Amino acid sequence: MKHFLDVDQLSSANVLALVERALGFKNLPHHDYPKYSGVVLLQVFYENSTRTQLSFELAAKNLGLTVLSLDPKRSSESKGEAMQDMCQTFAAMGVQLMVMRHPEDGALQALSQAAPDALQLVNAGDGMYAHPTQAMLDIMTMIENKLVPRDMKIALVGNIRHSRVAQSLQRLCRVLDVGELALIGPEAWLPKNIIYGHTTSSLQDGLKNADVVMTLRVQHERFSKDDDVCDLAMYRENYAITSNTLAYAKPDALVMHPGPMNRGVEIDSEVADGPQSRILKQVQNGVFMRMAILERLIQYQNLRYDG
Ligand code: CP
Repeated sequence: MKHFLDVDQLSSANVLALVERALGFKNLPHHDYPKYSGVVLLQVFYENSTRTQLSFELAAKNLGLTVLSLDPKRSSESKGEAMQDMCQTFAAMGVQLMVMRHPEDGALQALSQAAPDALQLVNAGDGMYAHPTQAMLDIMTMIENKLVPRDMKIALVGNIRHSRVAQSLQRLCRVLDVGELALIGPEAWLPKNIIYGHTTSSLQDGLKNADVVMTLRVQHERFSKDDDVCDLAMYRENYAITSNTLAYAKPDALVMHPGPMNRGVEIDSEVADGPQSRILKQVQNGVFMRMAILERLIQYQNLRYDG
């Protein structure tokens, strides 16, 4: 694969191979990681990030890459330089991989049409459209916990309409033909276009028989009109994942959250820190999944140039 823009560019076999490679990295001692020295990776984040940016940086360093970061607010874009010219500049300096987070839906897809041939793009989240590496690390965490995609039920709860994580997860569930995906939330936050799964506004119905309960942050910054707003007290009352509501799911259901979490809003601490929680495992797996994805992109480019 030349770019990594979203999960629907992958086949089921591609996804499972990346999961296997990521789990392999997790079991390897650090000194046995392959080194791709000479490859330069640039991070450009137009939106804030804790997990994604740091784990891409760590993944790249684990593989021996040279890592650069450009703060868009301090770049020459502020002097009117076009992104296309900036990409030419990055490629001229030898940057091979550019990891970008952008507030606009489809920004990376559009840039991939205009970027120089030598530059490979990696989507670290664009608007409300896609967050493919998050979906990949989420599925990795489920498979690591012995869940079989075709047989499992995922319950995704909360502000689904405004979530790029929810969009990529739906696409990945479609690729893997996941047994069941319940999209649960108040009407105002259910997706207008369902990619995969079914919707319900009943938390109890949606969580029934769930193997995984994943809840989402309330994304206030993406609300564009009054229709998008939902009373937080009502939300908490009806959709928060607490020890009481978690009991609607299977007794050993995994609790997941892509982060950042708002404790006491969409999830209670007793659940987030409880024995069923895999939230920090998701963070840990993010490094290994990003290593697997970066390696795959590097191998694609090496094969092209080596014939
Ligand atoms: N899950 C996620 O994208 O977190 P960050 O915004 O901290 O990168």
